[in-house]
Amino acid sequence: MLREKKILIGITGSVAAYKIINLVRLLVKAGAEVKVVMTASAKNFVSPLVLETLSKNVVLENLSESSTWANHVALGRWADIFLVAPLSANTLAKMANGICDNLLMAVYLSATCPVVAAPAMDEDMWLHPATKRNVALITGYGVQLIPVENGELASGLIGEGRMAEPETMVNFLISHYCRGTLLKDKTVLVTAGPTYEPIDPVRFIGNHASGKMGFAIAEASYLEGANVILITGPTALHLSYNAIRKIAITTANELLEQCMIEAPKADIVIMNAAVADYTPLEKTPQKIKKEKSETKWQLSLVKTTDILALLGRQKLPHQYIMGFALETEHELKNSLEKLNTKKIDSIVLNSLNDAQAGFGHDTNQITIISKNGHSETITLKPKTELAKDIVLFISKELDA
Ligand code: CTP
Repeated sequence: MLREKKILIGITGSVAAYKIINLVRLLVKAGAEVKVVMTASAKNFVSPLVLETLSKNVVLENLSESSTWANHVALGRWADIFLVAPLSANTLAKMANGICDNLLMAVYLSATCPVVAAPAMDEDMWLHPATKRNVALITGYGVQLIPVENGELASGLIGEGRMAEPETMVNFLISHYCRGTLLKDKTVLVTAGPTYEPIDPVRFIGNHASGKMGFAIAEASYLEGANVILITGPTALHLSYNAIRKIAITTANELLEQCMIEAPKADIVIMNAAVADYTPLEKTPQKIKKEKSETKWQLSLVKTTDILALLGRQKLPHQYIMGFALETEHELKNSLEKLNTKKIDSIVLNSLNDAQAGFGHDTNQITIISKNGHSETITLKPKTELAKDIVLFISKELDA
């Protein structure tokens, strides 16, 4: 997404400047071209040599370097995004008032590209009315702020004002400036992860689904311009983009309830959750104790609602529904049967027989089969990459 984006970073004097080394590394790794300008005081916190080495570009500080003039206008025009990070209270005040006493400020005042800033200061400075006024002024000029975080500050205090982490800054830039358009203006509902069916207060019936595939599909859909709702069972995963609306559920019945609320709003439903087919007939309120004399114990289960089949029956005329099939044998035959009986538009076949594919792995191998007769087999690759292929497949289906 950041491939070939030209990003100009302006570093100001703040302890958080050391994090910019990692930011430059991440941006370059993501394919961006990076140049750096820094203020004189920023050099106290991070070495220009390290930044030059990582960005592969000369780091500029002054309006004139030895006998050459640093063309601030050209720098501002070169950049697709100008990111001021960390943004100190001092540079914030200069930006609010248009003070031009260094190269960074000259670039800011002449930049024609979007300007983004990641403030970093102690909580008392951050909460000062003058800072608040300056923030309101620069956001009024169109500068986008990457929100500060709450945490350990350079002073040793804990509070608000910590600069966002480099990964968060990268995701912010992608989210605001690099989204594609394959699913623009579409609302996508994705379900992910396992369901847990409680037996008693300490035990449940679950499965090995990690949620990785569903989370990757939610993020890939978002990065192609969709408005995304993710309903997920218990997982340890975190979303990279907080614009994705996440709804946490535990049981198949809770998933059903949420799907009934959210699916009518969706243009595309991608049912990736590994839903329990059966749930205990009753959940006992107290822990079940083992019977001393019995070696066997029986648990009565009832069938859960097949949510995908229900969504298929209730499908809205404009809606596109994709299901997943996890098979251990007769893979193709079983998937086709699910595609037809659940009355959906396409099904993604995962086979547990493929090495490195399916539950818990970071990679997967799939075949997507559409009711229109199209099918595509995608060989083993990271789930994040497969998710992009799935989004592309759906977008082609919608265009057909
Ligand atoms: N699914 C669902 N509700 C259920 C069970 C499954 O919505 N109660 C959905 C899954 O999210 C998946 C698809 O149905 O998209 C197929 O799930 P899978 O477990 O492969 O098949 P089942 O329909 O449950 O059939 P079986 O377990 O017999 O293979």
